[in-house]
Amino acid sequence: MVAFLLIVGLSFWAMAGFMSSMIGDYLFDERISMERTRMETLAEKLAPSLRDRDVTTLLAEMNEESRELGGSMALTDQNGKVQLDTQNALTGTRLDIPQVTDILVDGQRVSYAIRDAETGQEIVPSWVLFMNRTGSRWESVYAAAMIYDSDVIGVLILFTPAETAMRSVYQLQERTLLIFAAIAAAALLFSFIFARVVTRPVAGLTRGIQHMAKGDFSSRVEVRGSREMMQLAEAFNSMSERLESLDQSRNQFVSNASHELKTPLATMKIMIESLIYQPDMDRDLRTEFLTDINSEIDRLSAIVSDLLTLVKMDSKDVRLQRESLSVADLCRENEHRLKPIAEKKGQTITLTLQDECEMYADRSKLNQVIYNLVENAIKYTPQGGRIRVSLSRQGHDAHLVIADNGPGIAKESLPHIFDRFYRVDKARSRETGGTGLGLSIVRQLVLLHGGAIRCESEVGKGSSFIVDLPLHQG
Ligand SMILES: Nc1ncnc2c1ncn2[C@@H]1O[C@H](COP(=O)(O)OP(=O)(O)O)[C@@H](O)[C@H]1O
Ligand SMILES: [Mg+2]
Repeated sequence: MVAFLLIVGLSFWAMAGFMSSMIGDYLFDERISMERTRMETLAEKLAPSLRDRDVTTLLAEMNEESRELGGSMALTDQNGKVQLDTQNALTGTRLDIPQVTDILVDGQRVSYAIRDAETGQEIVPSWVLFMNRTGSRWESVYAAAMIYDSDVIGVLILFTPAETAMRSVYQLQERTLLIFAAIAAAALLFSFIFARVVTRPVAGLTRGIQHMAKGDFSSRVEVRGSREMMQLAEAFNSMSERLESLDQSRNQFVSNASHELKTPLATMKIMIESLIYQPDMDRDLRTEFLTDINSEIDRLSAIVSDLLTLVKMDSKDVRLQRESLSVADLCRENEHRLKPIAEKKGQTITLTLQDECEMYADRSKLNQVIYNLVENAIKYTPQGGRIRVSLSRQGHDAHLVIADNGPGIAKESLPHIFDRFYRVDKARSRETGGTGLGLSIVRQLVLLHGGAIRCESEVGKGSSFIVDLPLHQG
């Protein structure tokens, strides 16, 4: 940024300097060439008069010419001594100025300069601004050689005031410089603003990414800047939102899982400690404790295997082992497997299979779906309940309904029953050996097959779980 400002500033400064010196030179060039011609002509014309010492003619001509040019004139001999002077101030003195020396010593025909009339200091017109000497009385000095028979016999010198010309050069240069300074300032300001506009959102995004790299997913960036920057910021924000919610649900999952695993472990520890510290415990009580410990172990392994199933399904590379099967067959198989449990509770399972629903799917996964749903129905429906499993074909879907006349699920619980570890009645569900993972596994399995699952329920009347599976995928 600093380098950029420096380059812009310097190049503007150089350009302004160049421009103003060009203007100065241009303004003076014309005057110089005009004076040069007149002085050369006059010097040539007066040379014979000087040789003849015709003072009257010389003075008359010099007076006339200096009046026309608005200045004064002097004439020296070949030694630089002033012979005539229209102002009559210099006569008899040696005129020791560089312009005279240029002609008498260096053999130049003409010599020209602008100088301070008081101090005699010369100046290049284009530098007047940088010398800042507007107060000085500037004059131009023009010297021309008087040549007769190839010999320099004197020098004719013209002094004209140059203040007006110098002042206009000064003003012009000042104005040019001011304009350039203004342009430079505007350019700098503009580039500065531009750089800010471009770099600010990038800096914000960088900060956001750094926060995220440190594990803080709550950072959001301001949506501003160009269209592309805004899109980038929006993409970043939606990504961090997603990551934040993933992070939260992961934390929730880990804490739920640890809690679920801790409960059976704590129960087991209490019972094992009783067994250790009461060696002469009643035989029956001992057997009861060991049975309880055994069932806690079953619960633990059920949770662990459910967790493993879920984790496996979460990883993207889960594969379905597809084969030709009939969903109706799966229903029959599960009815056969679960019938004894239902009979124990005095429940009936009715199958209504309107279609075989042949499809190409993963047998063990679909089996798990049906088993879990029927098992839940048996589990949550009280003694003597009725469970109905019906299968039909609806369009291109296999339409499976598992309904019971159990307690039903309250409206406020319905949206959550497919969540991991969610149970309507925690205590009761644990008693019956539930992990709260069954329905979330079921839903994942159905989704893997491209299907959908929902639950309709009314408290006191019963619940229906409705699964739609596409018969032909792709
Ligand atoms: N058929 C049903 N009738 C009433 N409530 C049910 C039924 N099926 C599931 N639920 C409720 O949904 C919760 C989640 O079910 P699930 O994920 O299978 O966990 P669980 O291990 O408790 O069976 C259960 O705890 C229960 O409260
Ligand atoms: Mg269950």
